[in-house]
Amino acid sequence: MKATKITDNIFRLGVNLESDLLFEGLWPMPHGISINSYVVRGEKIALIDLVEDIRDKPLEFEQELNSIPLQAEDIDFLIINHMEPDHTSWLPAFYKKNPELQFYLTKKGAALLKAFCGIEKNVHIIKNGDTLDLGKGKILSFYEAPNLHWPETMVTFEESSGILFTCDAFGSYGSITGTIFDDQLSTEQYDFFMNEALRYYANIIGGFSMFVTKAIDRLKELDIKMIAPSHGIIWRENPQNIIDAYAKFAGYMNGPAEPEITVIWSSMYGNTEQVVNAMVQGVRSVGLPVHIHRVPNDDIGFILASAWKSAGLIIGMPTYEYKMFPPMAWTLDMFDRKKVWNKKVLRFGSFGWSGGAQREFELLTEKLRWDFLEPVEWNGAPTDKDLNRAAAQSKKLAKQIKGESNNS
Ligand code: FEO
Repeated sequence: MKATKITDNIFRLGVNLESDLLFEGLWPMPHGISINSYVVRGEKIALIDLVEDIRDKPLEFEQELNSIPLQAEDIDFLIINHMEPDHTSWLPAFYKKNPELQFYLTKKGAALLKAFCGIEKNVHIIKNGDTLDLGKGKILSFYEAPNLHWPETMVTFEESSGILFTCDAFGSYGSITGTIFDDQLSTEQYDFFMNEALRYYANIIGGFSMFVTKAIDRLKELDIKMIAPSHGIIWRENPQNIIDAYAKFAGYMNGPAEPEITVIWSSMYGNTEQVVNAMVQGVRSVGLPVHIHRVPNDDIGFILASAWKSAGLIIGMPTYEYKMFPPMAWTLDMFDRKKVWNKKVLRFGSFGWSGGAQREFELLTEKLRWDFLEPVEWNGAPTDKDLNRAAAQSKKLAKQIKGESNNS
C-alpha cells in the first residue's frame, strides 16, 4: 500500500475496514469504510488524524507512511480533529515509537486524549483560528466544530492548498480502492458514495444535525478548494457538492424531507403483513417513491437512512402482550436517539385478545414532532373493509406529502 499525493507535499494515507465488521460495533457496512489520514510536509511534518488499532490496519498505515518515505519518529505534530477510537486507538502504540510527538486538539479533545491514551505531554490546546506554521508555505489553521461528531471535534484548514480536513464531517461509508477523488468516479460510483454518505450521515451524524448546519454556515468564511474527510473520498472537483449534500441531510431533521414514504412493518402471524400491500398501493397510486423495510429482518442502519430521507413514514406492527411488537419498539427508540423528527406518519396493525400497541406507539413517539394521521387498527385478520381503509389512509398521507388536495 502506498500513500497518495493530493497536492505538493500533502498526502493521503488510507486503510479500509472490511465489510464483516460493524462500524461503532453497531452499523453494518456491506461495502466497508475507509479511514483516511493526511500528511502535510513543510520544514516540519504534521499528521492529521490516525487509524484504528484493528486487524492489520496499523501495519498497512506504516507501510503507507514508509512509502512517502517517513517513519513514525519523523512526525513532528499530530493533529487530532476527533478522538473517537476509529481514528485514535492505535495512538498509544504510535506514541511509543515517537514520544516527542506534539499534539494539537481542542480542550475537550485533550481531556479525551488523557482518558483514552493516557497522554498529557506536549499537548497544545487550540482556539478558533489558531495557526501552526510548518514552514515552506504550509500553514495549518484550526476551527472548533463541536458535535461533528463528538463535542471535542475540530477541523483543520491548510491555507496554501485550500484543503479542509474534516474527519467525520462530509464522510461516507464505502471502501476506497484506487480512486480517491470525486472527479475520478463514474456516475455510478459517484452516486454510490453519495448514497453511502446519506447512510453514514443518518447512522453517525444525524442526531447532531443542528451543529452541522451551524458549522457549514461558519465554514463559508474559508476559501475551500478541497474537502478531505477521514472517511470516504476526497471532494476535489466540486467540494460544494458534498457540503450541499450535508446541508440537505441536516435539513431533513426539521422537515419536510424528500417526497418519499418509508414503510416499516413487522408481523407475527401475517395479519399485519396482509395490509402492507394495501398501504404500498395507496402510496403508489399517488406516484410517490416508496421504500419498504421489515423489522426485525432489516438492519436498523438501513432503516434509519431511508426514514431520515423520507417525508412520510408508514409504520405497522401488531400488539404483543398489551404493548407493541418488541423489535418495533427498539426501532422507535433508535428513531428517538437519532432524532428522526418532523415526519408525517401513519400507523397500522392488528390486535388479538387485547390492544395496546397504539398506546405504546404514542408514548414512544411523543418527542419526535411527528404529524399523525388516524391509525388503521383491526381485530384479528383484516377484512376487505380494513384493506380499503388502509389504502385510503396511505393515499391520504401520500397526497399530503405530495402537497395535493385530499379531495382530488
Ligand atoms: Fe470516524 Fe466519530 O469517528
